[in-house]
Amino acid sequence: MEDLKYDGTERLAVDYVEGILQPTPTCDTWDQIWNFQARPDDLLISTYPKAGTTWTQEIVDLIQNEGDIDRSQRAPTHERFPFIEWKIPGMESGLEQANAMPSPRILKTHLPIHLLPPSFLEKNCKMIYVARNPKDSMVSYYHFHRMNKGLPAPGTWEEYFESFLAGDVCWGSWYDHVKGWWDAKDQHRILYLFYEDMKRNPKHEILKLAEFIGKSLDDKVLDTIVHYSSFDVMKQNPMANYTSIPAPFMNHSISPFMRKGAVGDWKNHLTVAQNERFDEDHKRKMADTTLTSHIRFL
Ligand code: A3P
Repeated sequence: MEDLKYDGTERLAVDYVEGILQPTPTCDTWDQIWNFQARPDDLLISTYPKAGTTWTQEIVDLIQNEGDIDRSQRAPTHERFPFIEWKIPGMESGLEQANAMPSPRILKTHLPIHLLPPSFLEKNCKMIYVARNPKDSMVSYYHFHRMNKGLPAPGTWEEYFESFLAGDVCWGSWYDHVKGWWDAKDQHRILYLFYEDMKRNPKHEILKLAEFIGKSLDDKVLDTIVHYSSFDVMKQNPMANYTSIPAPFMNHSISPFMRKGAVGDWKNHLTVAQNERFDEDHKRKMADTTLTSHIRFL
């Protein structure tokens, strides 16, 4: 696999790491990923896929750069924030990017907490976790699979719905992911945020992030960050909308990366029967966590 140059015309194959579905290049280099050496001043942004990772990355970068747009637009998202478990044959991996980056680094992962390289916890790194309601996450993930050759083909919407409920998608079950990080927040330096809160009151959540990072923002800088991290502005920003990735890998004409950026789009996708099944399954899987009341479907 190593010597094959991935040109984006074929989709990556997938396999399991400790029961979690991953693209095979990640499985093949798992030992290196697990042994990744975090630095104490790393800031890690962790999410289940499609929870608003890119949005959070943009906000955090703008906070670190005190609203300086020229600095936050220095490079596309995937270059500014190494994605530690990401590996595509023939391209620089997330690990290589991270190892070459001077501190302080802002890193990205979608790993469930039990697969997080232990050095992040040993070094007591600050970590930001963002959760998004599972119905909108599923819809967003389905469209992302359609346009992104780095993931398996999603099949029909009905097929994808079943895979998502079974947790048989890359990075595993939404439920295990959000619950695992929720439990970990009590023992580690984790700020746990929700996409729906960020939509409802971005200023409030940006201030929470700034406080966690240790930056104070004056009103002007805060307003600048709210503006440049808004969906409409990020959608037009080539350094934040993933249009810098060549079309054979990500085809925005199938579905743009910056798709809708809304809460409640699941209502346009789930049938009444699917929604009933989802609710029943959700209730069962969330019965053992205090996270339940924080998840809002709109
Ligand atoms: P939709 O597909 O529902 O539009 P991630 O970065 O974790 O892959 O998440 C991508 C999702 O976040 C997409 O959701 C994308 O549109 C949304 N998103 C990106 N930037 C956003 C912003 N500034 N405000 C709200 N949603 C945003």
